[in-house]
Amino acid sequence: MILILLGPPGSGKGTQAKRIEQTHGLVQLSTGDMLRAATDSNTEFGRRVKAIMDSGQLVPDEIIVEMIDRRIVQTDCRKGFILDGFPRTVPQAEALDAMLARRGLKLDHVILLDVDEAALIDRLSGRFTCGQCGASYHDRYNRPKRDGVCDGCGGTEFIRRADDRPEAVKARFEVYRRQTAPILPYYRERGILRTVDGMADIDAVTHEIDRILGSA
Ligand code: AP5
Repeated sequence: MILILLGPPGSGKGTQAKRIEQTHGLVQLSTGDMLRAATDSNTEFGRRVKAIMDSGQLVPDEIIVEMIDRRIVQTDCRKGFILDGFPRTVPQAEALDAMLARRGLKLDHVILLDVDEAALIDRLSGRFTCGQCGASYHDRYNRPKRDGVCDGCGGTEFIRRADDRPEAVKARFEVYRRQTAPILPYYRERGILRTVDGMADIDAVTHEIDRILGSA
């Protein structure tokens, strides 16, 4: 199964992708996580990407498309994958179609997490993630069962993202409206776009996605 999760910053793509990964045996391909891993390396490329991400702008299409094109041929993707954060522009959506067609693969679902942007500032300012496995938590809505210990891997180091500062969040919303929202009609016209209420609580969103994926 190949699935795209779409939605503005903080809509819950990463949270839901991690759950789907476990329940449906798919691999989460988060372009944000891949890019953050690249920025950890002390290279010119890493510094350039970090500056773009911290400002809330998009990394150039050709870098992202090549990254995904190389990733989807790896053996763990054979059972299917969840695209979290990709595509984010019309050229990326077109490039995805071409790379899937080249390999005889088909996109099964595109799910939009529909949210109220004003509420997302609160979600993003309270977000923290496990430094070891990347599981996403929130100061109020989604705390680990034991304070300071990741539910998934037992890790004890947590990270807050530089682009969750209010100025960067504002820029990310603006970029979403201008560059990412235009891909919605692209999928709507093909009849594969489904919308889920992303303002519902986390379990309710998961349940709705499961229903769409045909297992609930
Ligand atoms: P990326 O890492 O993809 O960030 P994003 O799309 O802005 O999305 P987020 O990760 O911020 O949010 P999310 O929707 O995953 O929400 P989450 O589940 O964490 O991209 C970062 C940057 O990388 C981009 O700005 C760009 O520079 C670059 N980039 C990435 N992909 C690119 C591409 N394709 N092209 C070009 N550049 C690219 O949830 C947020 C918080 O809310 C958490 O604390 C969570 O616990 C909580 N929460 C989740 N769901 C709920 C709920 N239903 N109710 C209450 N709280 C909830």
